[in-house]
Amino acid sequence: MNYIVRKIWDLPQSQHTAPEVYARRSWHRRQVLTAMGVAAGWGVMSHLVGCAQKPNAEEVKKAGAVEAPSETATAKGVYPSTRNPSYEYGRAETAQNEAAIYTNFYEFTGPSSKASYKFVGDFKPTPWKVTVDGLCDKPREFDLDDLYKEFSFEERAYRHRCVETWAMCVPWTGFPLADLIKLVGPKANAKYVRFETFNDSEQAPYIGVDNTFPWPYTEGLTIAEATNELPFLATGIYGEPLPKQHGAPVRLVLPWKYGFKCIKSIIKITLTDQQPPTFWNTVAPREYTFEANVDPSVPHPRWSQRTEWMLGTMERFPTVKYNGYGDWVAKMYG
Ligand code: MTE
Repeated sequence: MNYIVRKIWDLPQSQHTAPEVYARRSWHRRQVLTAMGVAAGWGVMSHLVGCAQKPNAEEVKKAGAVEAPSETATAKGVYPSTRNPSYEYGRAETAQNEAAIYTNFYEFTGPSSKASYKFVGDFKPTPWKVTVDGLCDKPREFDLDDLYKEFSFEERAYRHRCVETWAMCVPWTGFPLADLIKLVGPKANAKYVRFETFNDSEQAPYIGVDNTFPWPYTEGLTIAEATNELPFLATGIYGEPLPKQHGAPVRLVLPWKYGFKCIKSIIKITLTDQQPPTFWNTVAPREYTFEANVDPSVPHPRWSQRTEWMLGTMERFPTVKYNGYGDWVAKMYG
């Protein structure tokens, strides 16, 4: 083991190569010129005219936009769906644009940027298929309309807590994962559920650049967790179809676990009798466990988990065990 060459995920943010370098050659040229001082005047000018401000909500929406909801979704009234009153944030809702500009989607940016909305232009989330297979009686392939037809959609107001300590409160549109598991009929020996993201470097630039990561992004749950009422398969957010950077067209939402478990842009769900290897647990097992339940008393090896801060307002709150969802999930952990 070579301890001198640091892995990319150990590098401080300042030493990462910006994802723009991979995604946009013209941007890279500008960076080089700026570094040489040639474009310094241009930089000062653009700062003065406001280019350094927060990105405009309309531009962000346009960058992450997906196809309009299908006729089936419209006929079923999926967007917006009725909010399920059982779930409340207990805090202010995060502004839509704040959530849209601060995302983790390593396939597009790697570790160096939260602005994945800038790099999702080539991503094509329609048409899309989700295969459900493994230890079940009725393995199936679902396209988006199948999901709209088969399941009962609702809106859930959930808190989200990233392992990096940022948090948000957002309304997801979707249906319980438990309903999908029930539909395919899990066999008695199905003990875990494995999830897999698409893996196409033509559409997601960072995949092609960094082969130190174990692509495709994968995640897993125990069957008890997967059939709990909280796990939610979301196709929408803020009453609209998911923008690309939030994991279009379908992603997992697990409000009592650290956000890295909430795998985006799912293509495959497999019921299995073995605990599946997962992306972050493979990359850094000491830092990211398979279970990854939110817990203020267990620090990340490199930072405390005692508090969290909200996207947009930066307001700080004490972290709560299971992110405050203990009434639903504590029973699973003895
Ligand atoms: N899913 C995939 N496929 N790739 C990713 O990089 N990042 C995870 C999770 N799902 C990630 C992913 C992390 S670390 C978090 S915190 C959440 O997505 C963030 O969801 P958001 O960006 O929509 O807020």
